[in-house]
Amino acid sequence: MPLDRDNDLVQVDGQSALGTLVELHGRILDARGEPLKQALVEIWQVDADGIYLHSRSGSRQRRDAGFQGYGRFETASSGEYRFRTIRPVAYSSRTPHIHVAVTLPGQPRFTTQCYIRGEPRNADDFVLNGVADARARELLQVDFLPGANGEQLARFDIVLGLTPSDNAPS
Ligand SMILES: [Fe+2]
Repeated sequence: MPLDRDNDLVQVDGQSALGTLVELHGRILDARGEPLKQALVEIWQVDADGIYLHSRSGSRQRRDAGFQGYGRFETASSGEYRFRTIRPVAYSSRTPHIHVAVTLPGQPRFTTQCYIRGEPRNADDFVLNGVADARARELLQVDFLPGANGEQLARFDIVLGLTPSDNAPS
């Protein structure tokens, strides 16, 4: 776990990350479309060279010191989350993706992956295509839209199949 684990992954000890900057945001919603608060949202992804922050990674020495690799954010009543990160890149056999985990109090950790819509390598990615349902595969792919100052904007909403009583206020 990095010491710096906030929702800004592109600044570490005064160093800036390499890569295309992306604002990844969205909402955590229940099955009725109501926002979920107190959801811990975690993301992790490779740096601009395709290297993970991992204690067993053989490529550790070559890691981008300006990229945090992991970040977390807890939702408030709006259910919204927000990260500053980089546009994911492909590594080994994988198409570009951002790992996302959501944990609600008293609930098991839910993990998924966010993909770039229109990315050619999505077509033969074994994890993405392991999702049998075509509509579900679509929902995992989001637009990375041009924003200000050469940065990009990506919106990834996550609906958890919870009933209201599962998330009762405590
Ligand atoms: Fe990965």
